[in-house]
Amino acid sequence: MFIGEKEKQLIEKFLRRVPLFSSFSDKHLKNIIDDFKIISVKKGDDVVFQSDEGTDLFIVLKGKVKASLLGPDGEEFILTTFNEGDFFGEMSLIDGKSRSANIMAEVATSFAVLKRDRFLGTMRQDPSIAINLLSILVARLRKSDEVIESLVFLDVSERLMRFLMHNAIKEGERDKNGVYKIKKYTHKELASSIGASREAVSKALKVLSTKGTVTEKDGHLLIHPDS
Ligand code: CMP
Repeated sequence: MFIGEKEKQLIEKFLRRVPLFSSFSDKHLKNIIDDFKIISVKKGDDVVFQSDEGTDLFIVLKGKVKASLLGPDGEEFILTTFNEGDFFGEMSLIDGKSRSANIMAEVATSFAVLKRDRFLGTMRQDPSIAINLLSILVARLRKSDEVIESLVFLDVSERLMRFLMHNAIKEGERDKNGVYKIKKYTHKELASSIGASREAVSKALKVLSTKGTVTEKDGHLLIHPDS
C-alpha cells in the first residue's frame, strides 16, 4: 500500500528519529517519502526468507521481528531482534545477492519499505546516509564478533549466563540484594538464542539452579550474579 498525505507526515517525523536518516536534509527526505510502501504483518508471519531474492529495505515503524538462521533439521539460531526504528534488508540491498537470514514477526508489526534503486539514488544525492549506514553495520559486525567469540570460547553454561545477564541488565528488575528478576524463557528460546541444543540448555540450567545462580519464582527467572 502506498501512502497518503497524513501517513507521509507521520513517516517523515518518524524517520527524523531513525539514526539511519537523522542527518538527511529535509529536501532529500521529502523526495523519498512518496516512494515508501507500508506493509503490516501479524505475529508469526514470515517477512523475509533466507536465500530468497529481494532487495527492499525495511524500517520497523511499530512492533518487533527476529532475524534467524535455520539449521538442516529446522533448529533455529536467533541472530538479533529489530524493534521500532531499526532497519533490515540492507545486505541484499547493498550487494544484490539473496537474503542472508529469515525475518519473522514476533508481534504484529508494520514497516516502511523502500526499493533498492531509490535508496541507492538517495545515497548518491546525500552521502551522509552512507556514513550512518556504515556505522550501524560496524556495530552489527562487532556484535557478531562477540557471538562468534562466545560460541568458540565459552561452554553452554557460560553462554547461558552471558545471555541471561545481558537481558537482566537491559530489562530486568534488581532488588536490594543484587538479584535480578527477568521473564522466564522456554528452554527452546534459550537454545535458539545461544546456539545450543535444548537438552544442553536444560542440563546447564539444572546445574545453575543447584548452585543457586539461576532460580525460578512466580513465573520469572531470578539471577543471582554473586552465587
Ligand atoms: P538481508 O540479507 O537483505 O535480509 C536478511 C537481513 O537480516 C539482512 O539483510 C540483515 O538486515 C539482517 N541480518 C543478517 N545477519 C545479521 C547479523 N549477523 N546481525 C544483524 N542483522 C543481520
